Amino acid sequence: MPNSKNLDILIIGSGGAGLGLALKLADQPLRIGVLSKFALTAGSTYYAQGGISAVFDAEDSIESHIQDTLDAGAGLCDPDIVRLTVTHGKSSIDWLQKQGVAFTLEQNNLGEKILHLNREGGHSHRRVVHTADATGKAVSLSLIERAQQHPNIELLEHHNVVELITTPNPDSASKKVVGAYVLDVKKNRVITISARVVVLATGGANMAYIYSTNPHSSTGDGIALAWRAGCRVSNMEFMQFHPTCLYHPVARSFLISEAVRGEGGRLILPDGRPFMQNFDPRGELAPRDIVARAIDHEMKKRGIDCVYLDISHKPAGFIREHFPTIYQQCLEYDIDITQQPIPVVPAAHYTCGGVLTDSFARTDIKHLYAVGEVACTGLHGANRMASNSLLECLVFADRACEDILRNLSGIPPTPQIPDWDESKVSDSDEEVVVAHNWNELRHFMWDYVGIVRTDKRLSRAMNRVELLKKEIGEYYSHFRVTSDLLELRNLVIVAELIIRCAQQRKESRGLHYTLDYPETDTGKPAQNTILKP
Ligand code: FAD
Ligand code: SIN
Repeated sequence: MPNSKNLDILIIGSGGAGLGLALKLADQPLRIGVLSKFALTAGSTYYAQGGISAVFDAEDSIESHIQDTLDAGAGLCDPDIVRLTVTHGKSSIDWLQKQGVAFTLEQNNLGEKILHLNREGGHSHRRVVHTADATGKAVSLSLIERAQQHPNIELLEHHNVVELITTPNPDSASKKVVGAYVLDVKKNRVITISARVVVLATGGANMAYIYSTNPHSSTGDGIALAWRAGCRVSNMEFMQFHPTCLYHPVARSFLISEAVRGEGGRLILPDGRPFMQNFDPRGELAPRDIVARAIDHEMKKRGIDCVYLDISHKPAGFIREHFPTIYQQCLEYDIDITQQPIPVVPAAHYTCGGVLTDSFARTDIKHLYAVGEVACTGLHGANRMASNSLLECLVFADRACEDILRNLSGIPPTPQIPDWDESKVSDSDEEVVVAHNWNELRHFMWDYVGIVRTDKRLSRAMNRVELLKKEIGEYYSHFRVTSDLLELRNLVIVAELIIRCAQQRKESRGLHYTLDYPETDTGKPAQNTILKP
């Protein structure tokens, strides 16, 4: 197998965003490559539970979906982007159905089959299209199957991007991306992939925290790659903590969907008392930042390890039908959710910030796009509303597709690119350094840059990031790359970006809450945080 590959479009990531874009482009005569650093199902998409928001209910409206999204975003959503996204809800669901995704249906009064809609926090209507409680699996498997069958799409599993390759212009405005160096993990060698267009669809950065609902792949690689290449990054302080991750010593990252609360699940203390009404009139269906903070507050105040989510008052048949995956998974840990409450804690779930893009998913570097959770489009502002993420993946895959097809004929073939140089490195003699630093980073991010922050905690975290960056930099320049090292190198950059953004925001807003500035600054227009490399 040669050491290099030449493509028209290189898409880094095989989640909803990456595969969505690949399939939308693939009817054109193009050579499209889609990379996943692990298996094709590795990203968050496969694990999505609740569903995809779109206006179908007769009582609902586009305006209401827009308003709920703006409310959740706490003054920082871009209203044009919100409208653009929300108005494409129905067509996105249609497209997924055409790809073979089987959503849960119900019968209406006329005996017709219609989409069943879930309710989730922040949504003022039932609005979430779903496949029971395993929507992501249904979406992911359908898209993978379609992509596997398409002659214009090449799927490359276990290929981990080391670095983007750009033309050597000093300023990002005239820089162009021309490909990427990629570690072929199975063969343990770095290959060169040149491409006329490169798309980051690498997902979020939630593995920066020791407790996360995310799969291992969410190490913020795309954000770090774009940052090193010269792109601006925005709003990284807005890391979303999902209120209800299963609390169990073995099942560290299993999510209990917000749809459980949507169907009447109550949050209770160990003695059985509900508490959410003390924090917000919407109770369990308040937006996530409020629910997660309330749980964190109760846990710290009472010195308890978790709170409980109780749906056992609903009929057992209803629970098993609506939440088959959650029911089964909990049963494996001896928790029968039809009979007893579920122990839950908040965990890092979603990266609202990311690589700054425009409404066509374009980044600061020519021919480099960012789609999905890796991007900061302006949709989520200071807090993402539930089930708006998969929708964003699909809508911005569409927008990127439109822009790429419009401009591709003007993009010349890529120049000759030198091979990856390994002449000055050797195999690592101390892998333990990587494992240790991974752990240390994720622990202090949880303790100091988590749900509740202070200036002091942020500066403690920054001191540690600086030490780790130096150590990891030295390690990277001496030893051959491995997947773990690449991820750690990216994660430490992402941690730095989260802390820097958090330090710049001298107020509490949405997901960013600091004891030093507990109020939202209403004195001046809300500003996004933008970092320039
Ligand atoms: P992902 O699906 O995360 O895919 C990332 C891809 O990039 C993977 O293929 C990965 O291998 C690849 N990759 C990463 N780095 C590299 C690299 N260096 N080299 C090569 N490949 C790389 N959102 C909703 O809207 N509704 C929900 O119900 C919902 N439920 C969720 C439940 C859970 C448990 C989780 C974790 C998230 C949930 N979300 C939900 C959020 C949503 O699933 C994600 O935001 C969305 O799926 C992200 O899709 P993506 O395509 O951007 O990235
Ligand atoms: C969930 O099912 O609670 C997750 C939904 C989301 O993150 O959008």
